[in-house]
Amino acid sequence: MPAHSPAEPVRSVAVVGAGVMGSAIAQVLAVAGMDVTCMDRSARQLTTAKVLLEDGRYGLRRGILRGKLTADAAAAALARVTFSDDLPTAVADVDIVIEAVPEDLDLKLDIFEQLGGCAPAHAILASNTSGLPVAALAAASRHPERVLAWHWASPAQVSRFAEIATTKKTAESVVTTVVALAERCGKQPVVIVENPRTWGFVANRIYFAAVREAERVRDEGLATEAQIDGLMRNAYGWPAGPFAVVKGATEGWGDDREGSVAALL
Ligand SMILES: NC(=O)c1ccc[n+]([C@@H]2O[C@H](COP(=O)([O-])OP(=O)(O)OC[C@H]3O[C@@H](n4cnc5c(N)ncnc54)[C@H](O)[C@@H]3O)[C@@H](O)[C@H]2O)c1
Repeated sequence: MPAHSPAEPVRSVAVVGAGVMGSAIAQVLAVAGMDVTCMDRSARQLTTAKVLLEDGRYGLRRGILRGKLTADAAAAALARVTFSDDLPTAVADVDIVIEAVPEDLDLKLDIFEQLGGCAPAHAILASNTSGLPVAALAAASRHPERVLAWHWASPAQVSRFAEIATTKKTAESVVTTVVALAERCGKQPVVIVENPRTWGFVANRIYFAAVREAERVRDEGLATEAQIDGLMRNAYGWPAGPFAVVKGATEGWGDDREGSVAALL
């Protein structure tokens, strides 16, 4: 029997780090009916997060305009989100914490160490890391059975991507709970095993391998970026070529595409 017995279904979530990903993740969870505490150490960032949630390119107002949710549903989602700049307060009464602070191992280790002490004993501790070792975060928390990575893609509001990276110690009940929550959020979760000795889980490793080779081809003067993108679209039915994906990831897609092409990092 796993030591962990999660609350089922998940009712309340804290998102730690309210930047690009955290604010979007908080929005998705609130729209899916969760009570969400959006936590950031920067009070200014919390104000920005609220603006993004309401009026961002993929925010609630745009969701109404695009016919994705009613004005009432958007208002209800917004009412479910609270903001906090204090970690222990933010996670005091939640079923799951999703960490989305910058991709810095020492910073994430520190957060997971704190979460191990201040999150409820049943709470799942998930990281949105792009590929840092989950086993190290799990060890730092001192509750490895409750830790996994839930890797989202940007824009989280429209991408269906949900890469659930587990360690040898992640409890099965934790995986089941996170998969169910991801599905409630409209995602298509895929559970994979992490290799703690390699940066990146599955999608990022394959994607960056393609980008590296595309850059080599360009640098050898064999083809332009536009030609490479066109070849990959036509040859393999990629919705966007490797350079267009990098550009979309860094500059935004500038449209309302529905999740097949998102930005992984
Ligand atoms: N941006 C993407 O497209 C993308 C996609 C997938 C995964 N990720 C991953 O998501 C994570 C977050 O990325 P992001 O782009 O949202 O970063 P970001 O810089 O936009 O946001 C990070 C937020 O964390 C806050 N923060 C920093 N230290 C903190 C602390 N100690 N306590 C609380 N908050 C703290 C910052 O104030 C900031 O608002 C990273 O691990 C990244 O690799 C990013």
